[in-house]
Amino acid sequence: MPQYKRMDIKETINMAQLPQHVAIIMDGNGRWAKERGKLRVFGHQNGVAAVRDTVEGAVEIGIKFLTLYAFSTENWNRPKLEVSALMELLVNTINKETKTLMENGVKLHAIGDLGKLPDKCRSRLQEAMEKTAGNTNCTLTLALSYSARWEITEAARQLARQVQAGTLSADEIDETTFAQHLATRGMPDPELLIRTSGEQRISNYLLWQLAYAELYFTEKMWPEFRRTDLFEAIADYQKRERRFGLTSEQLTK
Ligand code: IPE
Ligand code: IPE
Ligand code: MG
Repeated sequence: MPQYKRMDIKETINMAQLPQHVAIIMDGNGRWAKERGKLRVFGHQNGVAAVRDTVEGAVEIGIKFLTLYAFSTENWNRPKLEVSALMELLVNTINKETKTLMENGVKLHAIGDLGKLPDKCRSRLQEAMEKTAGNTNCTLTLALSYSARWEITEAARQLARQVQAGTLSADEIDETTFAQHLATRGMPDPELLIRTSGEQRISNYLLWQLAYAELYFTEKMWPEFRRTDLFEAIADYQKRERRFGLTSEQLTK
């Protein structure tokens, strides 16, 4: 940040042009812990504070949808110990953080193959979603046991079933109907994707929904990410020209 002191970054954001939906790939917990001579789980534990501050930051400026990649389909293949520690952390965090969600008017939502989660995890999640269902400031979606290819395949299967049952004709399937069968139905597509830890890839996240998202990568590891980093990403996003296939001249006409 050469131009502004970090404290001032919020002032540089144009509140009239906020993205409605910000998606984040929270990455780098393991490396952050290893750099400190700790176990990977220590990184996940410290990632919770980053989630809390980011959610509060999103509410503070008025982001309506925040979607966090918390656990991918592929993450099930990690060592058993890490997977169970992550599931445990999830249960405890959902318990503890429901209060923060209520205070901030945040509605909790989850997308992914939730049937694969341990029962306790799923029931805690369900409780927190029910408790926060009436909140309207921001929808916080956790992508859990999620992968975009899983989601797209599920949508295709649902549509095929309807065609098979004769309740839908194949010709009626367009981008709108397809999107209505995705886990994110009813949400606007993310305008901005943030990934921490310096990795520059999508890792099977929201492949359909990110079609025209602006991508923002930061070297920061997830446990160190805070609301000012979110604000920096949004300020950067606002400097970009989103052309959607048009020419720059068409946009300024
Ligand atoms: C992100 O951090 C959290 C999850 C994927 C659950 P990582 O655990 O991927 O940390 P790195 O990328 O190995 O440092
Ligand atoms: C992506 O991170 C999934 C989550 C952040 C939950 P990974 O660390 O699993 O992604 P890859 O394997 O490095 O692409
Ligand atoms: Mg990683």
